[in-house]
Amino acid sequence: MSQIFTIEKLDHQGRGIIRANGKVIFVENALPGEEVEIQILKEKKNLQEAKVSHYHHTSSNRVRPICPYYTLCGGCHIMHMNYDSSLQWKEDKVKEILKKFMNHDISFLIKPIVASQPFSYRNKVTLQVENKIGYYEKRSNHIVPINHCDLINEKMNQVVNIIANIKLDKCSQVIIRYSEYSNEIMVIFDISTDNYNKKILETLRPFVNTIYIKNKTYECIYGNPYIEEKIGNFIYRISPDSFFQVNTKQAEKLYELVRTYADLDKEDIVLDLYCGTGTIGLFLSPQCKKVFGIEINQQAVEDAQQNQLRNQVNNIEFICDDVAKVIGKIENQYSVVVVDPPRSGLDPKTVSYLKEWKVKRLIYVSCDPVTLARDLKELEEVYEIKELTPVDMFPETYHIECVVKLVRK
Ligand SMILES: C[S@@+](CC[C@H](N)C(=O)[O-])C[C@H]1O[C@@H](n2cnc3c(N)ncnc32)[C@H](O)[C@@H]1O
Repeated sequence: MSQIFTIEKLDHQGRGIIRANGKVIFVENALPGEEVEIQILKEKKNLQEAKVSHYHHTSSNRVRPICPYYTLCGGCHIMHMNYDSSLQWKEDKVKEILKKFMNHDISFLIKPIVASQPFSYRNKVTLQVENKIGYYEKRSNHIVPINHCDLINEKMNQVVNIIANIKLDKCSQVIIRYSEYSNEIMVIFDISTDNYNKKILETLRPFVNTIYIKNKTYECIYGNPYIEEKIGNFIYRISPDSFFQVNTKQAEKLYELVRTYADLDKEDIVLDLYCGTGTIGLFLSPQCKKVFGIEINQQAVEDAQQNQLRNQVNNIEFICDDVAKVIGKIENQYSVVVVDPPRSGLDPKTVSYLKEWKVKRLIYVSCDPVTLARDLKELEEVYEIKELTPVDMFPETYHIECVVKLVRK
């Protein structure tokens, strides 16, 4: 008779944890309280990775995943959990990570998580190509062929289906981007030849607005070179290489939170670090005197400048540079700073300038609670953490976004 284990809790990637014989066992597709038999997949010194071979008792929080590829595909991690309990788990995870990496508990400052629609929320997908199109399998570079994904809407899925039937030679990736506001679709083929299959154009043209071939540089082979999205009162142009929040409806809630936390008046001068296409800066521009945005991606900066013109905003300016390199050269004149860095968080130089400058309010938008905790630990030497709100930007995955309000002590 095989051993039966009880799942103790979830780790930060949504895997069940079992402690047995001095080892921690991480079990995929397992929820707290479930009694399971397991099959070991990977053996390391003090830990093992396993999958469930038999469920003896299942959790009342378990739901049947709606995706047929779920057990293979690495795109989603917690589709076996009902949405409400996934929100609770994400909120608890933020509290736990901050406590662990900041060495003290700020749970009392953490507001309830902002929920999303659980499916059809993504405005961008990256499909891998190798004879078939699909997503990477869990823990590997093998492709799970798909012709449907529940995280994107029907219009995007129709395009996935069409692309799945085109022969794609020398193509490594296909990216599909969508705008809810204009109902536009952009498709980008990463192809290492100029002699691409012309069927791409013929077949896709009736269904999409923009087609790009990316072969060292981006070449628009059909339609407008960009698509347009609207958040709040602003219309944003999005080029193929520019960052844009993947969950448009949640992005609006996120930006509203930033605006509330920034608590601007007409004298405030705002610095928007890692500004992408200028989304946050433009969103804040009516409430303050001036905004200055810094972004490393040239295409995103060009989009930001066009967005400024398109929305007739004249109190904002953008530069294309690396925040870490330029931060020491910019004038220390900002009363409010918004930072929205990539997962790696802030670099030490930027943190030290943010500590040195007399910034009244600092708003930190983070997509990784571990690097957020590291940076908050430093910043709280001179800033008081006033409030933190987790925002579910990525349902069905273990990822979580947080917005934090810090005020100079
Ligand atoms: C999480 S996105 C935020 C963008 C924007 N705030 C938004 O909400 O759309 C992070 C942005 O930082 C940019 N970035 C990454 N490293 C950077 C660096 N060292 N200096 C400046 N920008 C950087 C990326 O290109 C990306 O546009």
